[in-house]
Amino acid sequence: MRFSLLAAIAALIGNSTLVAANPSFGWNNDTFLLNGEPYRIIGGQMDAQRIPYQYWYDRLYKARTMGLNTIFTYIFWDQLEPTPGKWDFSGRNNIAEYLRLAQEVGLNVVLRAGPYVCGEHEWGGFPAWLNEVPGMVVRSNNAPFLDASRSYLQRLAAELKPLLVMNGGPILMAQIENEYGSYGSDHNYMAALRDMFQDYFGLPLYTNDGGGESYLLGGQIHGALAETDGDPATGFAARDKYVTDPTSLGPQLDGEYYITWLDLWASNSTYQTDVGSQSAIQSIQSDLKWTLDNNGSISFYMFHGGTNWGFQAGADWANALTPVTTSYDYGAPLDESGRTTDIYNALKETITAWAGSKNLPSLAAQAPPVKVAPIALNPTTSMFDALPKPVRAATPMNMEALGQSYGYTLYRHTVGSAVDGVLTPGDAPRDRVIVYVNEKRVGVIDNSYEYPSTVTLSLESNDVLDILVENQGRVNYGPRIPDQRKGIIGNVTVGGTVLSEWEMFPLGFDQPPSSSGKVDISDLAHSGPIFYSGTFDVDTVGDTFLELPGWIKGVVWVNGENLGRYWIVGPQQTLYLPGCYLQKTKNKITVLALEPSDMQGVVQGITTRNWGNNPDPDLS
Ligand SMILES: *[C@@H]1O[C@H](CO)[C@@H](O)[C@H](O)[C@H]1NC(C)=O
Ligand SMILES: *[C@@H]1O[C@H](CO)[C@@H](O)[C@H](O)[C@H]1NC(C)=O
Ligand SMILES: *[C@@H]1O[C@H](CO)[C@@H](O)[C@H](O)[C@H]1NC(C)=O
Ligand SMILES: *[C@@H]1O[C@H](CO)[C@@H](O)[C@H](O)[C@H]1NC(C)=O
Repeated sequence: MRFSLLAAIAALIGNSTLVAANPSFGWNNDTFLLNGEPYRIIGGQMDAQRIPYQYWYDRLYKARTMGLNTIFTYIFWDQLEPTPGKWDFSGRNNIAEYLRLAQEVGLNVVLRAGPYVCGEHEWGGFPAWLNEVPGMVVRSNNAPFLDASRSYLQRLAAELKPLLVMNGGPILMAQIENEYGSYGSDHNYMAALRDMFQDYFGLPLYTNDGGGESYLLGGQIHGALAETDGDPATGFAARDKYVTDPTSLGPQLDGEYYITWLDLWASNSTYQTDVGSQSAIQSIQSDLKWTLDNNGSISFYMFHGGTNWGFQAGADWANALTPVTTSYDYGAPLDESGRTTDIYNALKETITAWAGSKNLPSLAAQAPPVKVAPIALNPTTSMFDALPKPVRAATPMNMEALGQSYGYTLYRHTVGSAVDGVLTPGDAPRDRVIVYVNEKRVGVIDNSYEYPSTVTLSLESNDVLDILVENQGRVNYGPRIPDQRKGIIGNVTVGGTVLSEWEMFPLGFDQPPSSSGKVDISDLAHSGPIFYSGTFDVDTVGDTFLELPGWIKGVVWVNGENLGRYWIVGPQQTLYLPGCYLQKTKNKITVLALEPSDMQGVVQGITTRNWGNNPDPDLS
């Protein structure tokens, strides 16, 4: 059934999945050419690693039935090479399988492999361990950086080789870097990356920059097509005006047409979406029509955003860290849970009208999200009772030096002689710092505020000072950040006195710790972090949205999957729990409550997502 439907789609849209004798992709002055025939890219961004692999086929199929012929995907290097030279292409990282499925449904692919992708992902896709490589300067013509990039691109190319267009696969071309012109203008760097892509992939190449002079001049490189993003008319005009190298000229592509925008924690705007707004949707339709009528190609950013699972969300920087929410819904045609929206229907209408194709098959109704009755959770483990073996040193070591990329690091100091005054947790809070004295919480310092609050201490001899530092996401977009190490850098001082001799506990929490069996909940207002656990059954296995009423901040695991961060400040107030991570009975849930409160205990699954803002309780 799956295949006969696909054949019907292929016939209707007129895109044959037959493989040409010598498949090729390229372009002339104003037209892309696939196997020598004009090819208009009607594309959409959908990143494999933000979607449960169990749902890849469903999401790709929906892209095809909307009328897209090409999928754009970022590749997140940090997920593929979590430690140097150790590769993980399993589960959501099985990029080759994702691209095989794309081809199966009749979609071509544009590869956006970075190495830097931005994409609201942790450090734009860079592995945290780059921070520990001596002499490393990322996004520059720097030998350590180019060496690491080379080994990544070489390994990725080996993985994807059968999927390249000249080998009969769906990958048509590859992007070099990402909006590099918004960051720098070192053409030797871009040339070095271009040469690697040529050596390992041998695909046609392009760059993608903002539609303005400095962006285009910084990012364009000889031998790669120069393309733009944002408003298509502005971008195309800017490319015509500022790019003169004939090897960078050719058909116009709006490589990121922004459907709506991303959501940031602690921002005052709620969920960004045009769903339900007739005028906004008409304006998207008219931009699409304008692009197609002007010989342009386009990629919707996002067609389907998905989820920043676990600790994968990145952050922006504008006078303060602005971390990206767990949901990467983006107000896209397919929402975070893969459901079609009115934007989807409107774009399908415009594409089919333009392509002159008959109506594409409509999708079978998707099973609705399910309710999960309130689940009672019990405190099972105090973080302070479940610490791993510490690393000891006179001065604090940063998170990466402890061999850790994401999560939390606890720094512990036993006070020698009494000291008092303002606490400085190293050179800057990196990022949210919770301070405890004798395991009682005494304050929070958070660099997601331009002026983080301060904590003043009065420590006696033998007091135990604990500083829990949360990596809230390395910056993916913003000004040049001199370094993106997390944890504590430099000395911790109290009232100007340097505290020496530290025990450090890396708390990466790929999985929650096993139960310690005893939890002290007598003074929750000052409690250390607590893990709450429970099990639950569902009447029907299906997607649901987890609501955590009264919970302040932390992460949630269900059946071993880290669903990502929750934070009462919003705007995201529910976590997407895909049905494919559930079974009918005995589902296991664990919630890390960084700041437990009396209200904790219950989590439930609801059928619609909640969005809204709340004040940060730590600022009141
Ligand atoms: C392509 O553009 C170049 C440079 O603008 C021009 O010299 C050439 O004649 C064009 N070729 C065609 C086939 O239009
Ligand atoms: C955000 O919203 C809160 C609650 O409505 C309000 O008190 C606060 O002033 C707003 N902050 C900004 C920066 O607009
Ligand atoms: C589109 O391309 C065709 C074929 O090259 C050309 O004749 C036509 O003028 C172009 N139209 C626009 C609006 O650029
Ligand atoms: C940390 O403190 C020690 C001891 O006072 C001092 O020697 C060292 O220079 C300090 N490091 C930094 C980065 O300030």
